[in-house]
Amino acid sequence: MLNLDLRPMREKDAAAIDRILRQTGMFTPAEIDVANELIDIYLHKPDQKDYVIVVAAEPGVDAPPAGYVCFGPTPATEATFDLYWIAVDPARQGQGIGRLLLAYAEQESVNQGGRLMIIETSSKAMYLPTQKFYERNGYVVEARIRDFYAPGDDRLIYTRRFS
Ligand SMILES: CC(C)(COP(=O)(O)OP(=O)(O)OC[C@H]1O[C@@H](n2cnc3c(N)ncnc32)[C@H](O)[C@@H]1OP(=O)(O)O)[C@@H](O)C(=O)NCCC(=O)NCCS
Repeated sequence: MLNLDLRPMREKDAAAIDRILRQTGMFTPAEIDVANELIDIYLHKPDQKDYVIVVAAEPGVDAPPAGYVCFGPTPATEATFDLYWIAVDPARQGQGIGRLLLAYAEQESVNQGGRLMIIETSSKAMYLPTQKFYERNGYVVEARIRDFYAPGDDRLIYTRRFS
């Protein structure tokens, strides 16, 4: 049984999330910069509505995050949502934390009227576990842009429709 709370990200979670992003070994420095830019907008622009960031952590005020998810309504669409980032501490992967975070993002999107979730990922072999994770959670590859990230590295666009 997971004994984790989901709570809005706070300023003091930023260092631990940055560490998790680096420790996964899955993201380039440029990608980590983008992830941190979204975090910065979320933390420092209180009027923004594009990004929601939630962390999973042990109950208690000072518990560091075991993982986080960043999602939000896709600008200029009617009720489409994007899952921009999800990452779990490598020492704690495979325990259901990613599923918990994803389910929260989906439910919250539905609560806000969402009808379609989009997730983009790379086709590279190192992302196979991530692809399996999305597929196990009801996502299908709806589009593939060949050579998008780099020659031989396609962009996979996963979708899940909420009925
Ligand atoms: C992808 C990620 C968020 C999944 O989180 P997690 O906590 O490890 O996943 P969970 O334990 O919740 O797994 C949920 C389901 O996915 C499956 N799954 C998870 N990791 C898997 C793996 N490596 N291989 C195959 N299936 C996997 C599990 O079997 C589980 O299904 P089940 O309960 O039906 O068996 C996490 O592994 C991660 O941070 N990866 C690195 C960063 C990344 O790739 N992020 C996404 C790109 S933005």
